[in-house]
Amino acid sequence: MSSSSSCINIVLVTVALLTVSGSHADRLSSSFYDESCPGLTDLVLTAVAQAQLSDPRMPASIVRLHFHDCFVDGCDGSVLLDDSEMIVSEKGATPNKNSARGFDVIDDIKSQVESVCPGVVSCADILALAAEASVFLSGGPSWDVPLGRRDGTTANKDGANKNLPTPLDTLDVLQSKFSAVGLDDIDLVALSGAHTFGRAQCKTFSSRLYNYSGTLSPDPSLDPSYLALLEENCPQGEIGTTLNNLDPTTPDAFDNNYYYNLQNGQGLLQTDQELYADTSSPLASIIDRYASDDGSLFFEHFAVSMINMGSISPLTGSDGEVRFDCRKINAG
Ligand code: HEM
Ligand SMILES: *[C@@H]1O[C@H](CO)[C@@H](O)[C@H](O)[C@H]1NC(C)=O
Repeated sequence: MSSSSSCINIVLVTVALLTVSGSHADRLSSSFYDESCPGLTDLVLTAVAQAQLSDPRMPASIVRLHFHDCFVDGCDGSVLLDDSEMIVSEKGATPNKNSARGFDVIDDIKSQVESVCPGVVSCADILALAAEASVFLSGGPSWDVPLGRRDGTTANKDGANKNLPTPLDTLDVLQSKFSAVGLDDIDLVALSGAHTFGRAQCKTFSSRLYNYSGTLSPDPSLDPSYLALLEENCPQGEIGTTLNNLDPTTPDAFDNNYYYNLQNGQGLLQTDQELYADTSSPLASIIDRYASDDGSLFFEHFAVSMINMGSISPLTGSDGEVRFDCRKINAG
């Protein structure tokens, strides 16, 4: 790129940021609670570490919760709200029902935070911090989490059904769901790398195992030995709530194995393997780069993309509220 076009890009980016910031929205800042709640980051890290000890899957579940929060009306803690007279919970939406977990851990962190800095720290920020801690404690990168989000006073179950990707989405649909929230192909590939840890139920990929697209055969992109493992764990005709590791090699570690898996036909979800379907595509070349070193490029991009995702339409300033209880809005 020539220096004059990069100048133009800087100007465009600045204009875009000013437009997004709008009139009364403040920017997020990693120093937001430095005075009002100085021990916050350490408290969250300690609490997530404790949760991880009793449940090695928990860090993955927390990272996913933050994702499911941010894709629905921005990172406003909406995913945490329970059903009530005023709220139709996102927990009942298809991508979350009998699937999203970690709410008790967020409640526990929130009550610890309330006891040291009452009424100051939003649930949306706690979730963003807990997601960063989860990645770090699993061997992944750490980053300074931009803070200052406020909690929303609404939930959007329809939005959760509409905006969140499903494991059968085509690549086009995945890309459009990401670009609808301002995330690009690098964000898509880097954030999908979160499937380096955690579990998925058989039903989320069983369409690949026995009768793929009506072919009476498995998805041909599945590595045969991996297919055998999955068929053993997910017998045909069963309901399919059995859990499988998203990364068969290092199930609880945050590393770049996800990208090797894709190169080897060992992506678990159809949407994972789809990213590598065209090995000469720009997406595949990002995947090849993430797989080609010790994980440092992936880690670097993942941190940036988590900050991008964590910055989706935050409520700031005096918008929204700081909830006292992450499961309900302050008014009821
Ligand atoms: C690209 C589109 C994506 C699709 C279609 C997708 C879909 C899914 C599905 C179906 C599961 C298994 C749920 C279950 O069986 O209960 C899952 C798990 C998971 N997803 Fe995604 N996901 C996507 C992107 C992401 C992103 C962007 C993140 C985070 C940055 C993420 C993080 C996770 C994690 C950590 C788990 C494991 C959760 C646990 O064990 O509790 N996913 N995803
Ligand atoms: C395979 O899938 C096709 C189309 O989805 C369906 O019509 C057919 O009944 C299925 N066959 C079996 C044996 O499940």
